[in-house]
Amino acid sequence: MKKLNQKSLDFIDDVIYRQKDRMGPIKLMLHEIQEELGYIPFEAMEKMSEALEVPISRIYGVVTFYTQFTTEPKGKHVIGVCLGTACYVNGSQTILDLLVEMTGAPVNGTSPDGLFSIDATRCVGACGLAPVVSVDGTVFGCTKQLEDLKMVVLNYKKEEAPV
Ligand code: FES
Repeated sequence: MKKLNQKSLDFIDDVIYRQKDRMGPIKLMLHEIQEELGYIPFEAMEKMSEALEVPISRIYGVVTFYTQFTTEPKGKHVIGVCLGTACYVNGSQTILDLLVEMTGAPVNGTSPDGLFSIDATRCVGACGLAPVVSVDGTVFGCTKQLEDLKMVVLNYKKEEAPV
């Protein structure tokens, strides 16, 4: 397991200090840590457990229950493909296969170059736009936008290509 650097450890301590007396501190802390570090390191769960005096298993349970939290570092760009019923019957599996091929990232994993992570998600509540794909929080709905989605992915790849 890779050790966290001092800056990350200080960040975690600061989050815990600021959030520990608020309502629902576990999720508040996890959100901040996930956003800043891109994942929830085990050290963060240990520190939270100690500060909040709750078993680490409870924190781990929250991390693994919500799909927005991950215990592995994410790629630079996070792509979510909805596999809920409305999206699935409108072709989201085909889009998912295409994105896996384009990015080299496995489903629910990260590409070897660290550029992309692909998450297969449950219904995100935008069924009217099915099939729904999000890239770094920007939602692409319906197959008409598939070309736009391909362009976004290709542009990210081009930006990172060695000159
Ligand atoms: S099934 Fe995909 S948004 Fe609802």
